Amino acid sequence: MDETYHERTGEGQVLEQLRQLKDTALSELQGLSSMEALDKWRVAYLGRKGSLTVLLRSIGQLPTEDRPAAGREANQVKLLLELEHREKAEGLEREASLQVLAEDRIDVTLPGRPAELGYLHISTQILREIYDIFAEMGFQVYEAPEVETDVNNFQLLNIPPYHPARDMWSTFYTTRKGVLLRTHTSPGQIRVMREFHPENIRVILPGKCYRYEAITARSECMFHQVEGLAVGRRVTMGDLKGVFTNFARKLFHADRKLRFRCSYFPFTEPSVEIDVDCIICGGNGCRICRYTGWVEISGAGMVHPQVLRNGGYDPELYSGFAFGMGPERIAMLKYGIDDIRHFFSNDLRFLQQFA
Ligand code: PHE
Repeated sequence: MDETYHERTGEGQVLEQLRQLKDTALSELQGLSSMEALDKWRVAYLGRKGSLTVLLRSIGQLPTEDRPAAGREANQVKLLLELEHREKAEGLEREASLQVLAEDRIDVTLPGRPAELGYLHISTQILREIYDIFAEMGFQVYEAPEVETDVNNFQLLNIPPYHPARDMWSTFYTTRKGVLLRTHTSPGQIRVMREFHPENIRVILPGKCYRYEAITARSECMFHQVEGLAVGRRVTMGDLKGVFTNFARKLFHADRKLRFRCSYFPFTEPSVEIDVDCIICGGNGCRICRYTGWVEISGAGMVHPQVLRNGGYDPELYSGFAFGMGPERIAMLKYGIDDIRHFFSNDLRFLQQFA
């Protein structure tokens, strides 16, 4: 009886210990809120030196007949703790990912940020319009360099050193003797003539030009020009008038009136300046046309025989016309812009009007 009691007590003790262990383990588990804490808990109860493991091992010391019941109970506690552990772990993981979702939430109803699209500069737009119109008349685009020689920019165009006509073009010289920034696109005439056969030359030469001048509403130190050159067997002033009139009417989309006014350039003879009736005031007189009703848009003339010779052509056999105009001037006229400085001061409020 005594013995039995003792033995029962041994088994009873283990069962009691198991029950207590189970209760504390489960209540501790409930309060856990992090994966680290959960892991510590697992080590404390279920690890190799954990209290449940130690208890399980002690069952081997019980009398043989007590072992099955204690062992069964211990295994059940073990399975229960393992199950609870797994569920707790899953719960914590779920919570963690919900928190990440909440913190990283993207408001899909927010409107997107519009990508800024680029657009062509007003000068480029006008240049392309000019190319198109001249292309229809058979003119090709020829690009000549902005850094030129004094020889091409002046001398071969009939402007020797120290000639007073040089005053027409205030020049940016470089530190290299005889090298300058072209003051006009006319040196391109020499390049074209020296490169191509004189029959049927029809080219336009667009590009930047530079002048050492005070910057005002009407003049910039850098601007574009478009040069035109046509050479052939019987090119006449009439061809110049026809080509240019067609061009002006296409560009301004109206029945423009043109005026060819006598002028002087060293590289053309005869020389003219071409005016169109002021499209701002319709010829009545305004600030843009300085109350004359006319606006100058181009210099032009018949290529001077000496210039033809400098280009390698025989002026007895060939003749040509040339013109040079400023696309910024044309844009000012077309859109009523009253200050050339707007073009290159990069104020987006100005430029975006032509987007
Ligand atoms: N190159 C001249 C200028 O810049 C314009 C021009 C070109 C005149 C061609 C006649 C012929 O003023």
